[in-house]
Amino acid sequence: MIPSQIIEEIRNKSDIVKIVSEYVKLRKTGKNYVGPCPFHSEKNPSFTVSQEKQLFHCFGCGEGGNVFAFIMKIENIGFAEAAEELGSKIGIAVSKPTASGVSRTEKEKLYEVTLLAAKFFRSSFEEARGQAARDYLRQRGIDEKTAKTFGLGYAPEGWDHLFRHLISRGVAPNLIEKAGLTLPREGKDGYYDRFRNRLMFPILDTRSRVIAFSGRSLKDEEPKYLNSPDTPIYHKGEIIFGLSLTKDEIKTEKAAVLVEGNLDLLSAYQAGITNVAAPLGTALTVSQCKLLARFADTVVLAFDADSAGGAATERSIELLRGQGLKVKVAELKGAKDPDELIRKAGPAALKLAIDAAFPFLEFKIKRVLARHNPSEIEARSRALREIAAILSQEGDAFVQKEYAKLAARPLKVDPDSILAEVKRQKFYFRGNDKDLRRVTEKPASKIIEAEKNLIALSVQNQAVLENLKNEMKIEEFSCPEARSIAELLYAADLTRTDNPSHFLLENLPDETAKNFLAKILVSENADNPETMFKDCLQVIKTERSKSKIEALKIELGEAEKAGESKKAAELLLALKNEIS
Ligand code: CTP
Ligand code: MN
Repeated sequence: MIPSQIIEEIRNKSDIVKIVSEYVKLRKTGKNYVGPCPFHSEKNPSFTVSQEKQLFHCFGCGEGGNVFAFIMKIENIGFAEAAEELGSKIGIAVSKPTASGVSRTEKEKLYEVTLLAAKFFRSSFEEARGQAARDYLRQRGIDEKTAKTFGLGYAPEGWDHLFRHLISRGVAPNLIEKAGLTLPREGKDGYYDRFRNRLMFPILDTRSRVIAFSGRSLKDEEPKYLNSPDTPIYHKGEIIFGLSLTKDEIKTEKAAVLVEGNLDLLSAYQAGITNVAAPLGTALTVSQCKLLARFADTVVLAFDADSAGGAATERSIELLRGQGLKVKVAELKGAKDPDELIRKAGPAALKLAIDAAFPFLEFKIKRVLARHNPSEIEARSRALREIAAILSQEGDAFVQKEYAKLAARPLKVDPDSILAEVKRQKFYFRGNDKDLRRVTEKPASKIIEAEKNLIALSVQNQAVLENLKNEMKIEEFSCPEARSIAELLYAADLTRTDNPSHFLLENLPDETAKNFLAKILVSENADNPETMFKDCLQVIKTERSKSKIEALKIELGEAEKAGESKKAAELLLALKNEIS
């Protein structure tokens, strides 16, 4: 358990707007900030952050809470780890083992080891023994400034230069292995360096901590690229190379250029395309797309111009769109990758290709056309069906029509026959539209609305809370979330916490109640809490009475029909009492 003063101190000193901004592009509207929700795919920003209340809530997916909940959700970690994370940002130490079994101190030690290794590789690069690496880079057209910007280094030839260096700095051998830098010798004691005689690219997380390495062979020995294995601080599928340096530019441009290779990235950056990033290897993951969506609205894919690159592009389109990103595809004419394009045709050629990048629909249609032989009727018919399937993902009828025209000519058909096929397919395969996941909220009944308001008012006002305790028993709340909040609210000694709403958010037992509370708290404060409190109680009373009257009427009708005159008379009396 972390002492509650520490938790309160961390919460008071962290600004939720600042913290969330590291992950989400926020813009101010009135008192609040809004942005695209990082927890679900959406086109319209329904994710709201209140600076005043230090809370967030997404009106689309319902996620909400305070700064701890945000970090827990976005980093997928527990409360203690989130507290440490936030603490470390503002200089409050909370060191406790984490739930995952990896202690914070071990992670911290690993960050130190990788940083020491990066420094070692860097100085080796600058020393006499780094000559070959420097030559190699020069020959690849990368200048010293770019090399320095990316902290490129050199892993010396030999078996244990890095190992011995780290040992001399007091690092334990097993920690070096855990950091992925060494491998145990086979059949013997001891370790040897994983990276030997390679040009070293340090891999940084978005907080600019060195977490891993990618090493390129200087001659063409296999493998061409050798990467760190996954470690407690490095999860390959969650990291995008270069982003630590380029994320601000990507945010400004609202667009990221995605290239395949490390050297493509360096060349593009050096050519002035600084909003660039590279997944490590080609298989883009959902986590990586989410990461990109934190900074970009649009992704321009500039993968290799070979068949593997084409397939990777096709796959990446769907993944990126799944995160609500707009996707374009750059065509690299006459070169196999961005690096080669720059080398052959100059930086302007790559810029041009990126500016002229075409929408993903066009890319997909062109690929279908290229796969089918236009002189075969059967092939054209298959292509027509595939293109219609692609077009049925497009919601805009005008855009659909334009692309139908584009595809019609090579297929030697009328655009209308493509559109007719789109219609037919929509009829048969409707319903997997991702946007349907957006929660369409049922209009809350008046009682639930009133219960929500009562809770919101009581959380923010001790006197109102005391009143509520007298007026409503816990079991009288009809909304389960309101009931579970009331339970904690009634039992807790809120005078002992400086901030009841955050105390509740941190201590409520279930997630739906937390989200519910964040939602009602993010909404505006009442100007006149006492009046509103009375109004809400009145609404609940009236609504309850109304439904009681409805029920009595039905019963009365049934009793009359059945000829039970005694029962009917009793019901009539009850009804009269209720109405008066
Ligand atoms: N890659 C990898 N492991 C390999 C090959 C490639 O991790 N064995 C990753 C590297 O990040 C590499 C990227 O995939 O940069 C693209 O690979 P490839 O197109 O083969 O390399 P290039 O970037 O063209 O390599 P270079 O320009 O350095 O020859
Ligand atoms: Mn290349």
